[in-house]
Amino acid sequence: MNHNVRIGVVGCGNVAMGSYLPSVRQLQAQGMRVQITAACDVDESRRDAVRQRFGIETFSTRYEDIIQSPEVDVVLVLTSMPQHGTITHAALEAGKHVMVEKPMAMTLEEAAQIVELARHSPGYLLCAPHVVLSETYQAMWRRVHNGEIGKVLSARGLYGWSGPNWGAWYYQPGGGSLFDLGVYNITTLTGLLGPVQRVMAMSGIAIPERVVNGERVPVRTDDNFQLLLDFGESVFAVVSTGFTMQRYRCAGIELYGSEGTIQLIGEDWDPKGYELWRNDAGCWQVYESAGRWRWTDGLRHLIECVQTDTPPIITPEHAYHVLEIMLKSLESGQDGMAKPIESSFVSPTFGERTQTEAAHLIHDPGRT
Ligand SMILES: NC(=O)c1ccc[n+]([C@@H]2O[C@H](COP(=O)([O-])OP(=O)(O)OC[C@H]3O[C@@H](n4cnc5c(N)ncnc54)[C@H](O)[C@@H]3O)[C@@H](O)[C@H]2O)c1
Repeated sequence: MNHNVRIGVVGCGNVAMGSYLPSVRQLQAQGMRVQITAACDVDESRRDAVRQRFGIETFSTRYEDIIQSPEVDVVLVLTSMPQHGTITHAALEAGKHVMVEKPMAMTLEEAAQIVELARHSPGYLLCAPHVVLSETYQAMWRRVHNGEIGKVLSARGLYGWSGPNWGAWYYQPGGGSLFDLGVYNITTLTGLLGPVQRVMAMSGIAIPERVVNGERVPVRTDDNFQLLLDFGESVFAVVSTGFTMQRYRCAGIELYGSEGTIQLIGEDWDPKGYELWRNDAGCWQVYESAGRWRWTDGLRHLIECVQTDTPPIITPEHAYHVLEIMLKSLESGQDGMAKPIESSFVSPTFGERTQTEAAHLIHDPGRT
């Protein structure tokens, strides 16, 4: 491509205005050849904000105008979740590259069509979350796959907060904490451990009413989840997620192996590094991340893929597998039954790291 990669944004709400549009400015400041050429929101009042804050002159209330525009190479889908599938499908059909926030769609039928379309369409499809792109994730992946903690036997993921006070859709069917938050842990755990074979969940509405944009809103979809994931060969993981947690201070991801333990420091969408225990070392080794990676960096990755004509590391098949786990978890939360997972995917692999990691050693006080 011998011109700037041109982005059309669909959905100019919280995450667009607060994160992705500022991140494009940062990419430009770092010398990337990228620009936003058009924006769209069904809410006409966003027009002035995107022009004044980001200098985007072309605005429409119809997403069709964005996906049909010859001035757009990449469609960035940042609407509320129920619209993701339709817009992503249409943009791929129009031959565009697409980055869609999670989840790619809200039904397996819709997601399967999108995965199939992406196999044959000229445009790349990148589905959030982008956790497998972080340097911390990839360092952990190498440790695990080099056998440094032995065979992984069990794992745990945690991500929650008190919940959004904007976007009433977060509390309606087609929203909910599992699709907004649990999706990160499930993507990380399946990336590290491979496909899930079976899922079981307890879920419910723990807080039946919320205040959104100053108004009381009844909650109509589950906001509180405990998931059990079965990876086969008696390897299990637990994921705790909900709009039900005020604060916590513990690892977002923990893997327990036959020879050691690895724990992420911070959250998988905002990793600060990891801690490694190996029985043969007899101490905790702490690896801090350089902190360069941002959760919006999937967009940088897609732009690089477009510029170099290289398929993205994150595959639509992985996002589909994660969606199936989430939808079957919802069903399991309703009827209390374990659900088999039918889909599979191949986890991305990573070669030897190019930079040496600096470690702090913490000696185990129980050993001399
Ligand atoms: N807010 C966050 O911190 C955060 C972080 C990571 C990912 N996400 C994801 O980003 C997406 C957006 O979240 P948000 O918090 O910005 O939501 P939001 O409600 O603030 O914004 C969504 C916007 O999409 C617009 N919209 C809805 N349907 C549309 C359509 N058919 N065409 C064009 N515009 C349409 C709405 O008018 C609204 O302005 C969600 O998928 C969410 O899960 C959010």
